[in-house]
Amino acid sequence: MKAIIVTDQAAGTAGMKLVERPEPQGAALASLSGANYGDVVVQVHASGFTGDELAWPSTWIDRLGRDRTPSIPGHELAGVVTALSYGTTGLSVGQRVFGLTDWTRDGTLAEYVVVEARNLAALPGDVDFTVGAALVMPGLTAWQGLFEHGRLCAGQSVLVHGAAGVVGSMATQLAREAGAYVIGTGRAAGRQTALDFGAQEFVDLDNDALEDVGGVHLVFDVLGGDIAKRSASAVRAGGTLVTIAGPTEARPADGRTIDFVVEANRAQLSEIVQRVRDGRLRTNIGTVATLDDAVAAFNPTERRPGKTIIRVRP
Ligand SMILES: NC(=O)c1ccc[n+]([C@@H]2O[C@H](COP(=O)([O-])OP(=O)(O)OC[C@H]3O[C@@H](n4cnc5c(N)ncnc54)[C@H](OP(=O)(O)O)[C@@H]3O)[C@@H](O)[C@H]2O)c1
Repeated sequence: MKAIIVTDQAAGTAGMKLVERPEPQGAALASLSGANYGDVVVQVHASGFTGDELAWPSTWIDRLGRDRTPSIPGHELAGVVTALSYGTTGLSVGQRVFGLTDWTRDGTLAEYVVVEARNLAALPGDVDFTVGAALVMPGLTAWQGLFEHGRLCAGQSVLVHGAAGVVGSMATQLAREAGAYVIGTGRAAGRQTALDFGAQEFVDLDNDALEDVGGVHLVFDVLGGDIAKRSASAVRAGGTLVTIAGPTEARPADGRTIDFVVEANRAQLSEIVQRVRDGRLRTNIGTVATLDDAVAAFNPTERRPGKTIIRVRP
C-alpha cells in the first residue's frame, strides 16, 4: 500500500516521504493470535494530521520506549472497515467509520490502518469522508475541553483563544450551541471568521487588552505561553483555564488549570457528527489533497488556514 513515513525527527514535515509499505493482513488479524485483540483494519478514505505530531515522543517510540521508525503519521481518519479481529465490538466489515488512532502505532496517512474498534464510531452515510476525518481531532478536543474538563454549562461564559482556527472554531460552535456566551480571540484577520462561527465578541490579541476581559467561567486555550498566562486573570472565582497547548504555569487566582491531550471517544464522536447532520456544526477545512500530494500539502509555501485533509481514496 501507499503510505507516508517519517524517520527523522529533526526534519519535521519536510522529512515526510511517500513509500510502499506492506498492507495489514486481515487474515492474520483474525487468527486469534492475541496481539491484535480488539483491532480492525480500515481502508482509509480521508486522513487528518496535526502539525505537532512530529514533536510527540509517541511518533518515534512505542509504549516500551523502543524506536518505532519508520512510522506512519496522521491519527484522524474516515474510512471503511475491511477486517475484524477477535474482540471487536459494534463494528462490521463494510461499515463506514471515523475516529482517532493510537498515538504509538502506525497512523492514517496510508491506504490501510489497524486501529482498535473502540476508538471508532459509525460514520452516517450522508456525511462525506472528508468531513468525517475533519471532525475527529478538533471535535473531540473541543468537546472534551469544554464539557469534560471545563464543565461548561448553559448561561456561562467562555473565552476561546484562536477562535478562527481549527480547534477554536469547533469550540466556539459547540459552546454557543450549549447555551454559553462566547468571546473569541485571535489575530485581527480572524475576527470575521470567529464571529461567523458564532463568537459574540472578539478580542484581537495584538491590539486589544486581554486583561480587560473579566470574569469568564472558562478559558479554552489553544495557544499556551504568555497568552495562557495573561488569560488567568480573566477567569472568575471557581472557574477553569483549560489548555491544549501543553503544561502551563498559568494559574487563575481562585480557579483550576487543566492541560490535556485528546482521547478517542465513540459516544462523543456520535454526538458531534449528529450536530453536523442537522446543521448545528460545520467543519473548518482548508486544503484537501491526495496522498500523492500530501507531503507538499503539509509543507506549504504560505500559511494555509483551516484543517488539511488528505483524501486517500477519491
Ligand atoms: N492537546 C490536544 O489534545 C490537542 C489537540 C488538537 C490540537 N492541539 C494543538 O492545539 C493548537 C491549535 O491547533 P489548531 O489546529 O486549532 O491550530 P490553528 O488552526 O492554526 O488555530 C490557531 C488559531 O490561533 C491563531 N493564532 C495563533 N497564534 C496566535 C497569536 N500569537 N496571537 C493571536 N492569534 C494567534 C491562528 O491565527 P493564524 O492562522 O493567523 O496564525 C489561528 O486562527 C496546535 O498547537 C495543536 O497542535 C492539541
